[in-house]
Amino acid sequence: MRPIVHVLSAMLLSLALALPAAAATKAQAKHPPGTVIASAHALATDAGLETTRAGGNAFDAAVAVSAMLAVVEPVSSGLGGGGFFLLHDAKSGRDVFVDAREIAPRSATPQAYLDAKGDLDRDRATNGPWSAGIPGLPAALVHIAGRYGRLPLSKSLAPAIRVARNGFPVYARLEKGYGSRRAVMERYPGTRAVFLADGDPPTEGETFRQPDLANTLELLARKGSDGFYRGDVASKLLAAVKEEGGMWTAAELAGYRVREREPLRFRYRGWRVTTAPPPSSGGVALAEILQMLEGWDLAKLDATHRTHILVEAMRRAFRDRTIYLGDPDFVKVPVARLIDADYAAGLRATIHPERATPSDLLPGVPAPLEDDETTHFSIIDAQGNLVSATQTVNLTYGSGMVAPGTGVLLNNEMDDFALKPGTPNAFGVMGFEANAPKAGKRMLSSMTPSFIESDGKLAVIGAPGGSRIITEVLLGILGYDAGLSAQQVAALPRIHHQWQPDVISAEAGALDTATVSALQAMGHRVNAGESPWGNLQTVAWDREDNRLEGGTDPRNPTGKVGVLPLAPQRERSGSRPAVSATQALEP
Ligand code: DON
Repeated sequence: MRPIVHVLSAMLLSLALALPAAAATKAQAKHPPGTVIASAHALATDAGLETTRAGGNAFDAAVAVSAMLAVVEPVSSGLGGGGFFLLHDAKSGRDVFVDAREIAPRSATPQAYLDAKGDLDRDRATNGPWSAGIPGLPAALVHIAGRYGRLPLSKSLAPAIRVARNGFPVYARLEKGYGSRRAVMERYPGTRAVFLADGDPPTEGETFRQPDLANTLELLARKGSDGFYRGDVASKLLAAVKEEGGMWTAAELAGYRVREREPLRFRYRGWRVTTAPPPSSGGVALAEILQMLEGWDLAKLDATHRTHILVEAMRRAFRDRTIYLGDPDFVKVPVARLIDADYAAGLRATIHPERATPSDLLPGVPAPLEDDETTHFSIIDAQGNLVSATQTVNLTYGSGMVAPGTGVLLNNEMDDFALKPGTPNAFGVMGFEANAPKAGKRMLSSMTPSFIESDGKLAVIGAPGGSRIITEVLLGILGYDAGLSAQQVAALPRIHHQWQPDVISAEAGALDTATVSALQAMGHRVNAGESPWGNLQTVAWDREDNRLEGGTDPRNPTGKVGVLPLAPQRERSGSRPAVSATQALEP
């Protein structure tokens, strides 16, 4: 990750520009003037554009981008992982949340993750077969292509298959991630066969080929879900898990299904927000935080009080996350109450304007892992279809384990369950009964793919970052509300609070020393100067100017915004196109 200099004035500028989402006065374009895609890797953005050129819509592009990310960012996501896809289908006007989250195998009882002393066995929770849930991403690709796409799956998967077979240049984040997980990854013969194929670990600049993964993708293209969840690939996955001491059954693999869920909706200062429902905690937390914030005009607050109010709202939402959130197919999550504006008003009333509310201190809460994996992409197409997708294998290179002969690196998403009640996971967040592991249950997530829409503007936004995803997306929405461009939104300095540990995390440069001292005087603990985190990818359409723009996180040098203006015939019949892409800021 490249260090970037954050300028406090960027945040202050956002205050100066803050206006309520204005009622539109100008004419509104009916269709966007082309397609815009922001993703964390240029090859993935290009795969989406290639699919669009071949006649695909945003959903075909999403399949192409998602599969390409699975190939070129194994450090972040892949066929052995899962994800959430928030879709807007322009023709029907319908929003749908495709939940391709991994599920717990039957073997994953809470006892299975405790050591002889009854402590959480962190190795089992994050490394190797026990850390992996039954993958969801392959099912999502098949589902989205079949139900929403225009092209056959073989066409949308073609770019990913090509790059898996021919290879792509290793970049710094892949090499560094491998270094940080090497000891675990090299335990497994399947992983060694992929990552040490040329005798040594992947090194920046050399070509990384994944022929087994290309074959697995081809099977998926030819046979649909059966190409992964049954037959040869499934047998190899089952054998590998068994060989390494884990337990999955053929029925669990064959029985995996994505779920289509109703997205969560609420309003904030004139914006209509559409976002992730449980088993993500992201949408609920976002709704709580933003609706609490409606009690203040953030633009009128100084940096100290603005940060204080933001943090107090974050603290309260993360407390609720810990207690109430889990898989709605297994536990009753009081979503309606939690996202009610009156509930937010009640929480708001408990915020002291000048004093930090101490979170209950729990002993032995470790600092969250620094980990920037998982990946997000955002798409708007010329029909007005939208895709906001976040996909993951959880931590860097997931479980570290590739099933031999498949190229499939298994996730370590099981750590997102509250494997031991009240014991923090890798992101320092914990949970209780609502998020206890159970056969077939989806582990709680923070992934928050979202749309926000006012009368004149529409934006698609999301990010990786574990529990920090929620606050990244939150700050991004506040940035759009303050009138920032998509690129400025992606670059905004970040702060975060998650109730426990009771500390404000701030990127270097996000808070100046005077603000840090003032916050400390109010009773806050502040970790100023943390390394940058996150990898936000966002695209936006201004309907009044009929302009598309994109923002890719400058913390990640491989990201790319790509645009494809409409073909001339549509231009003549529609409004005048104007497409601008703001690329990642150069150092
Ligand atoms: O679903 C979740 O919330 C996590 N598994 C996401 C992991 C993540 O973002 C890793 N990157 N920092």
